[in-house]
Amino acid sequence: MDERPVLTEKLEGGVGLIRLNRPKQLNALNRQVLALLAEALERFDDDEEVGCIVITGDERAFAAGADIREMAEATPVTMLQEGFIDLFDRLRTVRKPVIAAVSGWALGGGCELAMACDMIVASETARFGQPEINLGIIPGAGGTQRLTRAVGKALAMEIVLNDRRLTAQEALQYGLVNRVAPADRYLEEAIQLAREIAARAPVAVQLAKEAVNKAHELSLSEGLAFERRSFYFLFATEDQKEGMRAFLEKRRARWTGR
Ligand code: CAA
Repeated sequence: MDERPVLTEKLEGGVGLIRLNRPKQLNALNRQVLALLAEALERFDDDEEVGCIVITGDERAFAAGADIREMAEATPVTMLQEGFIDLFDRLRTVRKPVIAAVSGWALGGGCELAMACDMIVASETARFGQPEINLGIIPGAGGTQRLTRAVGKALAMEIVLNDRRLTAQEALQYGLVNRVAPADRYLEEAIQLAREIAARAPVAVQLAKEAVNKAHELSLSEGLAFERRSFYFLFATEDQKEGMRAFLEKRRARWTGR
């Protein structure tokens, strides 16, 4: 078995696959894993052949949270100096879409990692939660913020204050995940979704991702202004000319990413 804690693979159709690989620790996220994950994301982001990235774990766990063994004796100063949570921020700067393919546990930092991705494809076995309260802490990598935006205040309170865990179907019902797939198909479905996105006009995909994410950060008028600028900007791309010409000529567009 490969001992590297993060594995990467370039798949056909422009998909970069990143696999967390600490199965014995349920893919708990230690500093090494988070640093390797950030590096892998940045490498795929800079690779012209990759159009969409998928992050996955294994059947039993996407990730059961930050590594409690590593954190147990931490102090505020060591946390601050080592920039533990900053590694999650590197995920936010990835320009290409990132899909989390989640099977089994997505708890604590694992749930936060999935939520920091742009989309989530869940196996029917997936379980989402923020159990930090059991450790005498609270989520530190976006759990109180992204979860509340995704599922609303009432449910987020139960999850964060009282360790309520969501099944895959509940996560779908409350808008946390995009789709639920059978246990033996979730990764294929995530990769298929990634291939479809990777086949689209790359500059438009990048700006579309950015604009949707801005909806969580800006006021409505700022968000609308951002969207409008991006919309106008796309008229400077060859892909806009090609896309509209192809429509009028009743043929498939050939995107160049220019
Ligand atoms: N950190 C370190 N090790 C972990 C871990 C974690 N977050 N989660 C699981 N493991 C380890 C266990 O210690 C165990 O190791 P050993 O075999 O050496 O004892 C191994 O993985 C298997 O785990 P269990 O035996 O506990 O497996 P289980 O099937 O009985 O239970 C579980 C599964 C419910 C996920 C349980 O492991 C669990 O509750 N894990 C902790 C979940 C958690 O609290 N996550 C939040 C962490 S804090 C955080 O993430 C902060 C943040 O916001 C950034």
